[in-house]
Amino acid sequence: MVETIQWTEQGVVMIDQTRLPCVKEFVTCRTYQQVADAITTMVIRGAPAIGVAAAMGVALGVLHASESALDSEFETICSTLAATRPTAVNLFWAIGRMKRLYASLRLRPIDEIRAALVHEAQQIYLEDIAINRAIGALGAPLVPDGKTVLTHCNAGALATAGYGTALGVVRAAIEAGKQIDVFADETRPFLQGARLTVWELQEDNIPVTLIADSMAGHFLHSGRIGCVVVGADRIARNGDVANKIGTYGLAVLARENGVPFYVAAPVSTLDLTLDSGGRIPIEQRPAREFTAIFGAPVAPPGTAVENPAFDVTPARYVTAIITEKGVARAPYETSLPALLSPPEDSK
Ligand code: MRU
Repeated sequence: MVETIQWTEQGVVMIDQTRLPCVKEFVTCRTYQQVADAITTMVIRGAPAIGVAAAMGVALGVLHASESALDSEFETICSTLAATRPTAVNLFWAIGRMKRLYASLRLRPIDEIRAALVHEAQQIYLEDIAINRAIGALGAPLVPDGKTVLTHCNAGALATAGYGTALGVVRAAIEAGKQIDVFADETRPFLQGARLTVWELQEDNIPVTLIADSMAGHFLHSGRIGCVVVGADRIARNGDVANKIGTYGLAVLARENGVPFYVAAPVSTLDLTLDSGGRIPIEQRPAREFTAIFGAPVAPPGTAVENPAFDVTPARYVTAIITEKGVARAPYETSLPALLSPPEDSK
C-alpha cells in the first residue's frame, strides 16, 4: 500500500497528491511552514492525513525552534498550521493533542520536549492506521456481497496514514472474501476520484471503474450499486456530515433509489461542539482549480466561479456512520456521544 506520509531524519516526506497519477513524486518538508504549505496546496489532503501532517508539522517546528522563545514560537507554529484548511476538524484535533502534550511538558528540558512531540506525532500516524483497520472491520459486514460500492472523492490510504476510511471498508470487505468492485466518482473539480482513488485501487489490484459525477444517478438507479461509502471532514452532533462537494447530491440520489449511504470516519472527525452541520465552516478554494485542469483552461478567461470544497449532507440521508468505536445510527444526537463515552464497566 502506498506511503502517504512519513517522518524521516530529513523531514516529513509526502507523496505529492497534486501530481498523481501522472507523476509519482515525493516531497520532503524540512520546516513547519513547508508542511503548512503542503496542506494548503493539497500536496497532502484528506481529513485524517491532514491531521497527521499537522502533528508532524508541530513536531518539526519544535525541533527547529529556539529554546529561549519556545512558548511564543510554539503558538506561532500551531496557529500557522491551523490556518491551512478550515473544514477538516482532524486538523484542529491533532494540533489540540500536540498542544496538550506541550502544556504538560513545557517546563521540562528542551530535548525531552522535542523527543516527546516527535514521538506523539509518530503515535498519531500509527494510531490512524490501526483506527482505519478497525473501521474496515466494522464496516465490511455492511457491504452487500456481489455488488458494486460507489464512492466519492478519495477516502483511501492517500487520505489517511494508510488503509483508508471508506476504502478501508472496501479493503476489509475484500479481505473478508466478498466479491465486490468499486465505482469511483471522478470528483470535480479537483478530480480526487479520477486521479487518486482509481490510482490507489489499481495499485492494490482492486477492480475499479471511473464514472463522471453526473453518472451517479444513472448507476444508482440501475440496481448495480449495493451501497455508497464515503469519508467525512467533520460530523456535527446531529449526524450532519461535511464531505467533499458532491456528497450531498449523491446521498439524495442514494435515498431516492433505496441504496444505503454509509459514512466511514474516525471519531476524531466528530465535532460534538456543533449542534448541526450548518455551523461547519466550508472552505472556498481558488477559482483556478476549477477553470483549468493541469494548467489547461476549461472556461473562458474571467469566468465567475463558485468553488466550495465541501457540502453538508443532512443526517436524514445517512444510513450509518462507521467509526473505529462502533457503527452509529439515527438518532445521532444520542448514538454519536455514546461512541465517545467509556464503556459501563470501566466507569
Ligand atoms: O479536499 P480534500 O481532498 O482534502 O477532501 C477530502 C474529502 O472530502 C474526504 O472524503 C475526507 O477528507 C475523508 S478522507 C478519509
